[in-house]
Amino acid sequence: ANQWRGVIAEYAERLPDHVRERVVTLGEGGTPLVAARALSERTGADVHLKVEGMNPTGSFKDRGMTTAISSAAARDVRVVICASTGNTSASAAAYATAAGMTCAVLVPDGKIAMGKLSQAVAHGARLLQVDGNFDDCLVAARKLAESYAVELVNSVNPDRIEGQKTAAFEIVDWLGDAPDIHVLPVGNAGNITAYWKGFTEYATDGPATRTPMMWGFQAAGAAPIVLGHPVDEPETIATAIRIGNPASWRQAVEARDTSGGLIESVTDEQILAAHRILSAEAGVFVEPASAAGVAGLLMLAEQGRVPAGARITVTVTGHGLKDPQWALRTPDGEPVQLTRVTPDVVSIADALGLG
Ligand code: F0G
Repeated sequence: ANQWRGVIAEYAERLPDHVRERVVTLGEGGTPLVAARALSERTGADVHLKVEGMNPTGSFKDRGMTTAISSAAARDVRVVICASTGNTSASAAAYATAAGMTCAVLVPDGKIAMGKLSQAVAHGARLLQVDGNFDDCLVAARKLAESYAVELVNSVNPDRIEGQKTAAFEIVDWLGDAPDIHVLPVGNAGNITAYWKGFTEYATDGPATRTPMMWGFQAAGAAPIVLGHPVDEPETIATAIRIGNPASWRQAVEARDTSGGLIESVTDEQILAAHRILSAEAGVFVEPASAAGVAGLLMLAEQGRVPAGARITVTVTGHGLKDPQWALRTPDGEPVQLTRVTPDVVSIADALGLG
């Protein structure tokens, strides 16, 4: 009786009517907000992780896909399309299939994680690998949606933002008010736009007394907002945020400035170090891009820029199983050595150092 019903049913009164006519849901949202003691100790703040890898397809995209696909279903759309670094395609493919629609996806050739590729294929997407990066894929997808009978379900679709803003609602509902600071990775900048909308709505006519500062982090090799100009050839091991010209650039800057926040960059080394801390100290397994927010928070803590005792929420955006290879490398990039034993108790105890 108490099962979570998905974000459209749970937040019906705060979403546009047209997404409620034909609801397509896989039970997204209601994700854990985990108190992260290891991160609180390292930063001197009170840190909670919003674990979005717990969504049905393993990333935050599902919150916006239930609304985008429900809206499309209400208008009898038959075909949807997206450009993606992987997670959007996995989510679009799953929700389109649940709605009985065809899903086309454009992905940068060779630059999406195996788990995400597998999901899109498994859910029956018409997947095309494009000789180009994410930005090229998005330009093509937008043009296609203008000229053909296909609906674009990237985050430039306002229904996506409506769904994704529910993560901010959940944080406030769980904590009783907005945090002091909300931290998240930034790629195409849809999610920071959505969180800011959610926090703002809840502070305007909802249970929150204030809005948080928004702290966004891009990968250093793909940091157009930080640099102030597009990046032609974005590069980072965090393939999910390997984006050089974010569609919601203006909205991200507005969220940053209106909230009194910041958008800065972190190196791949910092991302992998944060990935390791999340796995090995906090018990939360994420994909590399998802560690960018934590990497940024740790960097600012080292620089003495994290207010003592501040209540900080950090969105970790996607599940570690999407792109697990990074766990099998040492900090020096060497393969992790696995130990083999015969199945007898003495040699196992020996190998474990229990002798
Ligand atoms: N983290 C993960 C795991 C992502 O997949 C993305 C975006 C982001 C962070 C950044 O979010 O784009 O709203 O600023 N992935 C998109 C995709 C681009 O195609 O799956 P954003």
